[in-house]
Amino acid sequence: MISVLNFVFSFPQIQFANAEDKQEFSKFPTKAGRRSLSRSISQSSTDSYSSAASYTDSSDDETSPRDKAQVNSHGSTDFCVKNIKQAEFGRREIEIAEQDMSALISLRKRAQGEKPLAGAKIVGCTHITAQTAVLIETLVALGAQCRWTACNIYSTQNEVAAALAETGETGWVATLLKEQGGDFLNKELTRDYLTHWVYKKYPSVFKKVRGIVEESVTGVHRLYQLSKAGKLCVPAMNVNDSVTKQKFDNLYCCRESILDGLKRTTDIMFGGKQVVVCGYGEVGKGCCTALKALGAIVCITEIDPICALQACMDGFRVVKLSEVIRQMDVVITCTGNKNVVSREHLDRMKNGCIVCNMGHSNTEIDVASLRSPELTWERVRSQVDHIIWPDGKRVVVLAEGRLLNLSCSTVPTFVLSITATTQALALIELYNAPEGRYKQDVYLLPKKMDEYVASLHLPNFDAHLTELSDEQAKYMGLNKNGPFKPNYYRSGSLISCRLLFISNYSVLP
Ligand SMILES: NC(=O)c1ccc[n+]([C@@H]2O[C@H](COP(=O)([O-])OP(=O)(O)OC[C@H]3O[C@@H](n4cnc5c(N)ncnc54)[C@H](O)[C@@H]3O)[C@@H](O)[C@H]2O)c1
Repeated sequence: MISVLNFVFSFPQIQFANAEDKQEFSKFPTKAGRRSLSRSISQSSTDSYSSAASYTDSSDDETSPRDKAQVNSHGSTDFCVKNIKQAEFGRREIEIAEQDMSALISLRKRAQGEKPLAGAKIVGCTHITAQTAVLIETLVALGAQCRWTACNIYSTQNEVAAALAETGETGWVATLLKEQGGDFLNKELTRDYLTHWVYKKYPSVFKKVRGIVEESVTGVHRLYQLSKAGKLCVPAMNVNDSVTKQKFDNLYCCRESILDGLKRTTDIMFGGKQVVVCGYGEVGKGCCTALKALGAIVCITEIDPICALQACMDGFRVVKLSEVIRQMDVVITCTGNKNVVSREHLDRMKNGCIVCNMGHSNTEIDVASLRSPELTWERVRSQVDHIIWPDGKRVVVLAEGRLLNLSCSTVPTFVLSITATTQALALIELYNAPEGRYKQDVYLLPKKMDEYVASLHLPNFDAHLTELSDEQAKYMGLNKNGPFKPNYYRSGSLISCRLLFISNYSVLP
């Protein structure tokens, strides 16, 4: 048995798993309540995205999918989804997503004849959305058998789950893990937890796994911990840190979704507003560019002189938060740090100031300090709280300090296409790598593959790449087919990671 884990999945087995999940799901009695929550992605999933909402659930049926006997049109009952009858609608959602995921479709076409994943059994745990479905179906088109579970019931597009279950194949993972006495399909799994859970509970299964592809920040972190402790017994690919993925998730995605998240929650007009952005890294740069373009007056806080200087060069004033906090209309954190906005800052904000976080987790704004007896919390909209001070001053806190864009807006399909293509290539590489190429360690996707992901997306823009002449290639010391930059090109954070192999898999030019 060979499997590629964590992204290791057979066809979609959508979980509302155990009793607690059911209770959690049932806590929200109205359709509207569930819908708004389906837009909200939990902290376990802050580094990957759902394009969110399941708009299609018109059923009032509160019965847990686990208690329903359902059968698809092929007579299979080996799935667990909310309502198999939504399959047709889900199929249309998948078709819409495919339109902006042409790189995956092109990968399907280029590699279909060879079936580079033939015989691979892949188990996965991700958000179940139309975009994930395009990835899963690509892996199947390339020869894999897949079995999937949802990592978050609120981000699950139930109609998409139904569409996948409608086309799904047999449940080999259920068999595999049940043979091990397992309850794999009875657990709620967060994405980063899947690997850990199989590792702990089914060490013998884990040893048979060919490799792991991990996309979440936390999951990658855990893998490095396992590796450091000498406990990682299979190779793992860290796709979170691939250059293309990072650029799109952090810079370009945030450049669009900061505006979307703020507009949806507050209906704010940006022109002339005083905004402070804490952190001028990739996310901060994206946010600032968008806000400036709409006429906001943006200033920056930074701890790193290089990023601070970049902000100056880009025309932003670099300030200390305490110097400007009284004048600000909007405060945005994107540092990945903790307590960047403290209770003291919150006390000094002016009436109506909006505070939100675009960085990792919910640690950047000290929201806990606002849960004190003298302050009143008023929920005015989904994900929007007014915190009222004794003198009547109100501060608007969005998504309780969790990531604004993941909680309150959607992520463009194109961004997800980049991530999904990266994951598909990582799986192909791990599965096809000759014995010994990968040890029991965590690897980055090689630069050449990163470049390939980008090149698969270029036709969308009718972009025409310039080719190096022989003379130029020699002069620059480059191979004409790439890689065109050194591995450390994006940022220092990548230097410490191991960088390896150039795949000789034939989809590469
Ligand atoms: N919202 C999203 O969609 C999304 C997408 C990708 C990443 N993220 C998260 O956003 C965070 C930032 O990501 P990035 O790629 O921009 O990282 P980055 O490291 O490029 O930038 C963070 C910046 O914050 C600065 N900083 C740290 N502590 C600070 C402080 N106390 N005050 C002011 N500046 C400070 C750092 O010097 C750095 O320049 C990370 O936590 C990341 O996980 C969010």
